[in-house]
Amino acid sequence: MMGEPARIRRLSEAAANRIAAGEVVERPASAVKELVENAIDAGAARIEIAVADGGKTLIRVSDDGIGIAAGDLALALERHATSKIDGSDLVNILSYGFRGEALPSMGAVARLTLTSRAAGAEAAGSIEVRAGAIGQPRPAARGQGTTVELRDLFCATPARLKFLRTDRAETQAIAEAVRRLAMAEPGIAFSLRDVSARYSDGGGEGRSLFRAEAEQGELFDGRLARIDHILGGEFAANALAIEAERDGLRLTGFAGLPTLSRGAAVAQFFFVNGRPVRDKLLSGALRGAYADFLPRGRHPVAVLFLDCAPERVDVNVHPTKAEVRFREPGVVRGLVVSALRHALAEAGHRAATTVSTAALGAFRPELPAGPRPGQGWRPQIQRPGAGQIGAALAAQAPLEGGFEESGGRVQAGRAGSRSRLRTTTRPRTCRWGSPGRSCTRTTSSPRPGRAW
Ligand SMILES: Nc1ncnc2c1ncn2[C@@H]1O[C@H](COP(=O)(O)OP(=O)(O)OP(=O)(O)O)[C@@H](O)[C@H]1O
Ligand SMILES: [Mg+2]
Repeated sequence: MMGEPARIRRLSEAAANRIAAGEVVERPASAVKELVENAIDAGAARIEIAVADGGKTLIRVSDDGIGIAAGDLALALERHATSKIDGSDLVNILSYGFRGEALPSMGAVARLTLTSRAAGAEAAGSIEVRAGAIGQPRPAARGQGTTVELRDLFCATPARLKFLRTDRAETQAIAEAVRRLAMAEPGIAFSLRDVSARYSDGGGEGRSLFRAEAEQGELFDGRLARIDHILGGEFAANALAIEAERDGLRLTGFAGLPTLSRGAAVAQFFFVNGRPVRDKLLSGALRGAYADFLPRGRHPVAVLFLDCAPERVDVNVHPTKAEVRFREPGVVRGLVVSALRHALAEAGHRAATTVSTAALGAFRPELPAGPRPGQGWRPQIQRPGAGQIGAALAAQAPLEGGFEESGGRVQAGRAGSRSRLRTTTRPRTCRWGSPGRSCTRTTSSPRPGRAW
């Protein structure tokens, strides 16, 4: 005989948050990503991040953004409370966050302190959560902006703590998450420091893990400068500019020459409507595009930005929003593969029938040492102060030239069709390799498939 069915009961808010936290905050790097995204959404110009012991004992993210009104501090820590959407439209999402889950999730599995001073407010306020229990707001001192401090992450969920990797590996994952967001937001200054006791004994500032000043250049140049800063000159000197458009999908970015390949797929950065994503479709398309150019086991280096109307991609697939779902996956894949293949072929390469290391050794492209491309992309993620970006975009010329392919436009020539290269001369603002110094120079650049 079976017994009576167990009674159904509603879980407490704290228990629900702890369960949600399992998905939102997988490891310290996910907490850092959530906090930095909040800072970006708040219109920060500078974001400072400090971590200790791989983020396990401390994660602190400070920004100079719009802040949180004193009366809203407690609400910010409640589940499904957000200032970013009103719930009527889940398609046109213009911010990184929209689920109202990140802070309550973190508060459920760590000791969280939120301190903020809203723009125009006379004073700051602070509120604490200890393993789900929200305290009373208190007055605090700080300038405009927000600081979130997380101590003892996963102290409330020891099982999760056991799955974390070494401090070193977790710190690396944090740096990677920060780099991805820094690539997406060149106009924001970032700093990431390791303040573990061994680096900050005696109250020092710790060890700098990453630092990027705000790029002032035009939108596209700013992005290029930031990528150069993050990936280093080697990438800059060995990458092709990609610009392609098909059926309302737009692909821009940079694809490393096959000679720049890596032993693992570690240096591949994808952004969909400005949001960093890890997407199997995109990484598969990238692999497919290089299949004829790389031996097995080698992986291309690439930074690709895909932009489309928001209704063609769903970002609300997973709580971390790192996965997306495209309405027309075949079109996306086709665009990525054809644009990259054309660019590679244009650079003077042919797909080798048998790819060998020897063939790779002979892979010495003649690349115009020239300027970077100047066509922009359209950011879907907007935040306070994004007016500048709009102006920069408006000032940009419409997409030029290219050839038609399956109803689309791919800005790259075919292998051997050098005659397709058009040379344009136009003034450009160059901030390349000379941080902080602007110069205007006039350059000639073969338009499609340029290297930079
Ligand atoms: N750094 C910040 N600056 C200003 N406001 C913030 C900041 N961090 C959080 N907030 C406020 O707290 C709210 C809750 O943040 P939380 O991250 O939990 O949710 P969200 O960002 O709205 O959605 P998601 O769960 O998708 O991240 C935000 O909607 C925002 O109003
Ligand atoms: Mg958020």
